[in-house]
Amino acid sequence: MRIDILSILPELLDSPFKYSIIKRAIDKGIAEINIHNIRDYSTNKHKKVDDYAYSVGAGMVMTIQPIVDLIDQLKSERKYDAIIFTTPDGTPYQQAHANQFSSFKNIIILCGHYKGIDQRIRDHYITHEFSIGDYVLTGGELAAAVIADSIIRLIPGAMSDETSALSDSFQDHLLSPPVYTRPADYKGWKVPDILLSGNEKKIDEWKLEQSLEKTKRIRPDLLDKK
Ligand code: ADE
Repeated sequence: MRIDILSILPELLDSPFKYSIIKRAIDKGIAEINIHNIRDYSTNKHKKVDDYAYSVGAGMVMTIQPIVDLIDQLKSERKYDAIIFTTPDGTPYQQAHANQFSSFKNIIILCGHYKGIDQRIRDHYITHEFSIGDYVLTGGELAAAVIADSIIRLIPGAMSDETSALSDSFQDHLLSPPVYTRPADYKGWKVPDILLSGNEKKIDEWKLEQSLEKTKRIRPDLLDKK
């Protein structure tokens, strides 16, 4: 899979892909990330990438020209399965989206900034608009990193234990149960006896009970989706 990320602050994306599962996926060649500086495509003599909105006090808006030129160039080189825009007024991003995108071949993620991008780019180029939560970030770069990370870890071969993605929180609309490791007793804080019993069936039942209880307490909305 190839992901092209379009940003006016590419330095913000220097480190998120350099560690752990994502780095290994890139090293193995199953994922490729290309970060593009939108400013490099501006034909303005000062390399401007924003302008005043056509409404008083609305702030600055990212201009069409550099973004369209960059996307057109990428589209002339290969076919894209999705052109995503990160924005707080987008559709709430969910695990189901990551599952769907993990089978795609080429994806563009355009990072929003300022008050947004000229609506005509959204109308004519963007296939998906996503928010990663009901709060406003300084820019869309962190959201793009979140989305790319959630997709890449699901590509077959990215994780050493293929089944571990299936037990992630949200895959079945349940939060994960608590987990423990050694020692079984840390200064009197004990691991639940059931986990030391060796009875796999009973352990599975306990995990499901814990998941249900936790989901009911913290995210009751997820249970409505089951
Ligand atoms: N840009 C700023 N805030 C954002 C959010 N919550 N999600 C996606 N992109 C954003």
